[in-house]
Amino acid sequence: MIKPLRKAVLPVAGLGTRFLPATKAMAKEMLPVVDKPLIQYAVEEARAAGIEQFCMVTGRGKTALVEHFDIAFELEATLRERGKTAELQALRDQQLPPGAIVTVRQQEPLGLGHAIWCARAFIGDDPFAILLPDDLVLADTPCMKQLADAYAETGGCVVAVTEVPHDQTNRYGILDIDSDDGRLVSVKGLVEKPKPELAPSNLSIIGRYVLVPEVLRYLSCMERGAGNEVQLTDAMARLIGQVPFHGLRYEGTRFDCGDKAGFLEAQIAFALKRPDLGPAVRAFLRKYATA
Ligand code: UTP
Repeated sequence: MIKPLRKAVLPVAGLGTRFLPATKAMAKEMLPVVDKPLIQYAVEEARAAGIEQFCMVTGRGKTALVEHFDIAFELEATLRERGKTAELQALRDQQLPPGAIVTVRQQEPLGLGHAIWCARAFIGDDPFAILLPDDLVLADTPCMKQLADAYAETGGCVVAVTEVPHDQTNRYGILDIDSDDGRLVSVKGLVEKPKPELAPSNLSIIGRYVLVPEVLRYLSCMERGAGNEVQLTDAMARLIGQVPFHGLRYEGTRFDCGDKAGFLEAQIAFALKRPDLGPAVRAFLRKYATA
């Protein structure tokens, strides 16, 4: 029987060096795209996939992330007094039920794999999702919902994948493909950041995963991989052959919001979709494009 997916881990303890100085005193995951911080997009996407319990793996200087999911009593009272009902409702809509979000601390950023291992007590014996909030996906069906649906078909591990330019494989976790039906890819191997000449394909994992709890056993070995970090990809690779392991070509557009150009592109793409902002943004884009 395939166990239902109810838990998500949100690793947010990275240093965000690509986004300095903005991330000197503020978490990268609090950067807003239009008017919502990245972390909120991730939580909303997970909730749309039926996920009910969240664990943020945080580090130093990340308190705003925790506060963001708390009730802001004074702010709410002021909005109520001033009759700002739409703004009040927006805050209410993002509120998680009491106890639905916990945080654990990754004291040192030793890598994504280490961050996930820090959530081991939360994960327990259950399948779990991982969402990297700095990967933002614009899609009609939220990316994590697409992944959860695939997981309900296949069980085991499912990772969201996309094609990347061959000369950029050294930036991503890359799949070695067994079979491919155009949507679901059966995986026979994984390599973290391979040089283009050594990459087994150009299908890359993006920041959305559904994993089995057995991955923790391999993470606990604390083996260092690419960049001398504890790599999630290396631990996942050891599950191949033990449980079904698939890549899902999701439908949607992914933006790397940990990168300045990717972040700016996300602002434009998300703003253009908004009925209240789209026309104004389209007009000023025309102005700058022709300047
Ligand atoms: P990144 O590779 O984007 O690293 O991490 P980073 O430190 O956040 O950013 P740069 O590269 O220095 O600019 C991918 C995800 O894994 C989390 C990050 O918070 C991000 O969501 N992460 C990474 C951790 O939680 N802990 C780590 O030790 C490393």
